This record gives sequence, structure tokens and C-alpha cells, in this order.
Amino acid sequence: MKFFLDTANLDELKKGAAWGVVDGVTTNPSLIAKEGIPLQEQIRKICEIVDGPVSAEVIATDVDGMLREGREAAKLHKNIIVKCPLTRAGIQACSTLSKEGIRVNVTLCFSPSQAILAAKAGAWCVSPFVGRLDDIGLEGMTLIRDICKIYANYGYKTQVLAASLRSPLHVVQAAEAGSHIGTMPFKVLDQMFNHPLTDKGLDQFLKDYAKAFQEAPAGR
Ligand code: E4P
Repeated sequence: MKFFLDTANLDELKKGAAWGVVDGVTTNPSLIAKEGIPLQEQIRKICEIVDGPVSAEVIATDVDGMLREGREAAKLHKNIIVKCPLTRAGIQACSTLSKEGIRVNVTLCFSPSQAILAAKAGAWCVSPFVGRLDDIGLEGMTLIRDICKIYANYGYKTQVLAASLRSPLHVVQAAEAGSHIGTMPFKVLDQMFNHPLTDKGLDQFLKDYAKAFQEAPAGR
């Protein structure tokens, strides 16, 4: 499973990249707005930090606008994935951009039927949002399982990018379901390291070692 960081914050990306487990980045207009730097400028900086697919979302909602923005974004860096929303216009733009060889992430997917449309439009990946379905009282992970099954049934090349993951458990469940990629906030990636038995075990190892050697009188 590939791990993407769902952030436009450069410090978080630097920390995550240093761990060597980050394969790519997803951004959305809200995440870019939070950093206060215009989209293209921030995306360029992100591409300098993480050497992997970086999703940059279009702002336009009409086909022509999405095509224009998508083509411009794709020129910014070889790693750019153009992100289009799962609307009629977004699917049409995805179909055209994909035929031009531009990779598209179809975002805001909330149903298996939408995911089938993304695959048929040649999307590089589809982003089903788990957490936002949980937020309205549904079982978001069911969507990931359903899409993985349908894509496998037909051998669709479109990758499943489990998005809106809010906890390490979400990441594990998305992996169990067969997601190709999981995108998560930095906080979730950081939480994945934690286990009290790791801390306790390490503490004990170091105490035992110190007792046996470091406290021994010099020369022994
Ligand atoms: C994915 O590409 C989205 O940016 C993201 O995962 C949305 O997550 P949220 O629902 O926690 O905002």
C-alpha cells in the first residue's frame, strides 16, 4: 500500500519525507488555502520535497476551465496528478485529460457507481472519502471494500486511493480492503508509530543494558 500525506504544509511534508515512508501527496483547495500561498507556487514547493505523485485540484467547475487548469498544472512538474471532482464536468475533463496522457485523480467519490464512472473515464486513481461518510452515520470503509471488489472484477487499472482517513485503524482497514493508496493527515501517520509496549520494551532494554555495563566500575 502506498502512503500519501494529505497536507499542503511544508514542515509536515519534510518530517514525513524524512521518515522514508511517504510515497506521494494529496492536496485540495481547503488545504492550500490553509497555507495562504497560491496553488501553483505551493505545489511547486511540495514537488521539491516529495518525489512522488502530487495531486493538485482544479478550481474551475466547467469542462473548459478544468481542462485549462489541468493542462497548466500538469506542466508544473512531471509528478503532478490533476484532481477533478466527481461531477459530470469532472468526469468529462478526466476522460479528455487521460487520453492526452495526463494522470487524473477523481475526487469526492462517495458511491460505487461514481467510482465505476471514474474508472471508465480512465482515471489514474479515484478518491473515496471514508471519514466524511462516517461523519454522516454511514460505514465509510464499506465503500472502499465495494470499489476494490468491483475494480478487481473487471481488471480496471484505476487505483483506489482511500481518502479522508482519520485514524491508524482507518489506514489498516483500507489496507485490508485492498486499497492501492491511502492518504492521511500528518497526525495520523505520526500516530501509526505509537504502541505502549514498544515504549515499555525499549525502556526496559536500555535499563538492562545500562545496569550490566554502564554502571560497572571502570576497567571491568
Ligand atoms: C483527499 O484527497 C482529501 O483531501 C482528504 O482526504 C479529505 O479529508 P477530510 O475529509 O478529512 O477533509
